[in-house]
Amino acid sequence: MSRSPNQQSVHLSVDGKDIELPVRRSTQGQRVIEIENLRKAGIFTYDPGFIATASCDSSITFVDGEQGILTYRGYPIEQLASHSSHLETCYLLFHGELPSATQLDEFTGSIRHHTLVHEHLVNFFRGFHADAHPMAMLCSAVGALSAFYHKTTDITDAEDRELSAMRLIAKIPTLAAMSYKHSIGQPYVYPDNSKDYASNFLYMMFSTPCESYHLDPAVAHAMDVLLLLHADHEQNASTSTVRLAASSGANPFACVSAGIASLWGPAHGGANEAALRMLMEIGDDKHIGKFIARAKDPDDPFRLMGFGHRIYKNHDPRARVMQQLCAQVLEAQGSSNSPLLRTARTLERIALEDDYFIKRKLYPNVDFYSGIILQALGVPTDMFTVIFAIGRTAGWVAHLNEMLGTDYRIGRPRQLYTGFTERDFVPLERREG
Ligand code: CMC
Repeated sequence: MSRSPNQQSVHLSVDGKDIELPVRRSTQGQRVIEIENLRKAGIFTYDPGFIATASCDSSITFVDGEQGILTYRGYPIEQLASHSSHLETCYLLFHGELPSATQLDEFTGSIRHHTLVHEHLVNFFRGFHADAHPMAMLCSAVGALSAFYHKTTDITDAEDRELSAMRLIAKIPTLAAMSYKHSIGQPYVYPDNSKDYASNFLYMMFSTPCESYHLDPAVAHAMDVLLLLHADHEQNASTSTVRLAASSGANPFACVSAGIASLWGPAHGGANEAALRMLMEIGDDKHIGKFIARAKDPDDPFRLMGFGHRIYKNHDPRARVMQQLCAQVLEAQGSSNSPLLRTARTLERIALEDDYFIKRKLYPNVDFYSGIILQALGVPTDMFTVIFAIGRTAGWVAHLNEMLGTDYRIGRPRQLYTGFTERDFVPLERREG
């Protein structure tokens, strides 16, 4: 690496030609080598899975995977989880600063104002099969929102972008609850805007027109913290999907719908559902050894769900908060002896002492304990990833706004072509077989 007075750079020699690549410093964390000059020299980099590639500048969220640090706009996740609320965190992610009391009031008021969805969306939901997965319905319903707000989705207009963001944050709990109600054949419940964000969501999920619904404030608090912990995680697969979709100029509802589709996969947001199913399948501590052995077997595709992370090579700080929250929720419900929690703790302890996991730096991630909490809150397994999506909407809209508010280009990765070289077309009658 060479150093000019103001800037560092690295030099590559390609076909005898020297190419200078500037090195850019981040405010915290790794430096990056800008590789645009390579294109002029007719060569590209190759990095499937983006293991070593930064795709953008961002000032929203910082993750240090080696140290196990996560901050939103500079604030440690542990402090936000203890002192903030999900909506305040949404404001922070979107606007960059914590709100004043008046700003928070206005923001909360605006979210409340937008909780209702167009009545025609009810017909849209009725078209889904009775046993449709709630994620399938959420993904489609969020995309369908573009059909209702076509005139206010000018992504070059900051006001339109903010309005779409407010609508997405406000309506996603309503749509999520509708997807649940549809899947169990109960009537959809309209939002009650006298309630806070998490309470309103729980009310739309669990109340019915025939009985009064008692909302436990401890449950609402746990749900709020859970949403906050999922609110953003820099350039993960779903956020990168949202950014890539938006880079073509697509509208925010379509982009967030694409993000939900990406989140659904078991390697990403679907892992909370898979982790709980795994813990239930283990059933008894005496079976843990068998599951650990399967996870270590290179010929078995099984992985310990809720374990490992592309970036964290240390404890996922969200998992630590989640573990504490889990213990609090179970204790408040008088089930601190929950067999699931016991199995999870034993599994974690055994894995963390095992050479296979130590060598590969595999630690519990955010999804390891979240399933146990959600189950304790009465949330069915099918809804786990939906709840992740409600939380992550905050990050998706913040990233959209950040990207669209600055200079950006359409995202267009290159490839290493491995197909045929040029050949002549063979008429049908001359083809063999
Ligand atoms: N159980 C067993 N082995 C594992 C696991 C696991 N959960 N995760 C990674 N490994 C092994 C993997 O087999 C590989 O071993 P080897 O070097 O011998 O081939 C090594 O560790 C590196 O794994 P990788 O697949 O190259 O790592 P990655 O960064 O591409 O994948 C991951 C990260 C999260 C997809 C992966 O750890 C995994 O599949 N975990 C289980 C699913 C999960 O919990 N996902 C939630 C992620 S956190 C929530 C979110 O942000 O969405």
